[in-house]
Amino acid sequence: MRKFLTRSLAVSAVALVALSVAACGGSDRNDSGTGSNPSGAAKGFAKDALIGVALPSKTSENWVLAGDLFTNGLKDAGFKSDVQYAGASTTVADQQSQISAMITKGAKVIVIGATDAAQLGTQVKQAKDAGAVVIAYDRLITGTKDLDYYVAFDNFKVGQLQGQALLDGMKAKKPTGPYTIELFSGSPDDNNAGVFFKGAMDVLQPEIDKGNVIVGSGQKDVKQTAIQGWKAEGAQARMDSIMTSTYAAGGKTLDGVLSPNDTLARAIITSVKAAGKPVPVVTGQDSEVESVKSIMAGEQYSTINKDTRKLVAQTIKMVQALQTGGEPEINDTKSYDNGSKVVPSYLLAPVIVTKANAAEAYANDPKLAPLTK
Ligand code: GAL
Repeated sequence: MRKFLTRSLAVSAVALVALSVAACGGSDRNDSGTGSNPSGAAKGFAKDALIGVALPSKTSENWVLAGDLFTNGLKDAGFKSDVQYAGASTTVADQQSQISAMITKGAKVIVIGATDAAQLGTQVKQAKDAGAVVIAYDRLITGTKDLDYYVAFDNFKVGQLQGQALLDGMKAKKPTGPYTIELFSGSPDDNNAGVFFKGAMDVLQPEIDKGNVIVGSGQKDVKQTAIQGWKAEGAQARMDSIMTSTYAAGGKTLDGVLSPNDTLARAIITSVKAAGKPVPVVTGQDSEVESVKSIMAGEQYSTINKDTRKLVAQTIKMVQALQTGGEPEINDTKSYDNGSKVVPSYLLAPVIVTKANAAEAYANDPKLAPLTK
């Protein structure tokens, strides 16, 4: 995780990459299984091989879309696919057994959007032992050296963009501070949640230190701000209680709320309105239809565009490279230490969207473009 590796860890990660590059030099990169070749089994496989895709439960629109895109995209690329979602409640056990079933069916690559980053080590090892390549999709899988690749939008950058949007939005409404805010973060079992929060705090903490920004409730620790399962009702309940404790009649005025995604942003706005207070500046992520409408109506302040079509396309490109026995393209070898290894990653750039640039940001999105007219 960028900026969170200790210096020595960062240095040894660099050394490791240098070593493995040196080890690859000149000789056959694919001859030693898990040795010099990070993907282990990438000796190529049949053009119509089975590709498994294990996704978390449908917590936001991007996950719903990803399933359809994988089903169609893998078919168009000539592969067989097995695309599964974890159920709504027993998510971890569901996903574990779905992955095991994919291994049994002989999947050559397994793409995983983890429900719980830390609970898939056994399945990832099983996949590796069976000769399958594992790609973590959107969410990192932690605590396993058997994970081959990670493909995602730059999560730390997402957080930084959210933090900056919050400051910009508040400043546009009220030119001088101090500003009173509240902080929310995503599900603690999703590795992204902590990275988004750290990215946002990278921007907000200096302002808090200077006294320009005050967290009204005093709840600043990621544990206090987390919303289990990315559930809207969890965010609404937490906001309800903060409205009562801190912003009731005679209390403070709320200027802004850091929300990690759109589902939670709308729940937070609902809560503030129910308390009879004006809607503050609220950030988001995922470009969900209802949130884009809310932004255009001047309610939610910002969202993040992480074009799921691009992320799925990039993942399928990786699968195609593996099919031919090649190495998938990666563009980052230092940011994502999963506790057992620094995972070779392909990171895409997220885009911040407010009312001001929505038309431009969604110009090529047939679903969202009409909403910005
Ligand atoms: C994250 C993902 C976000 C959002 C969230 C809620 O892992 O990166 O875009 O979808 O899950 O499901």
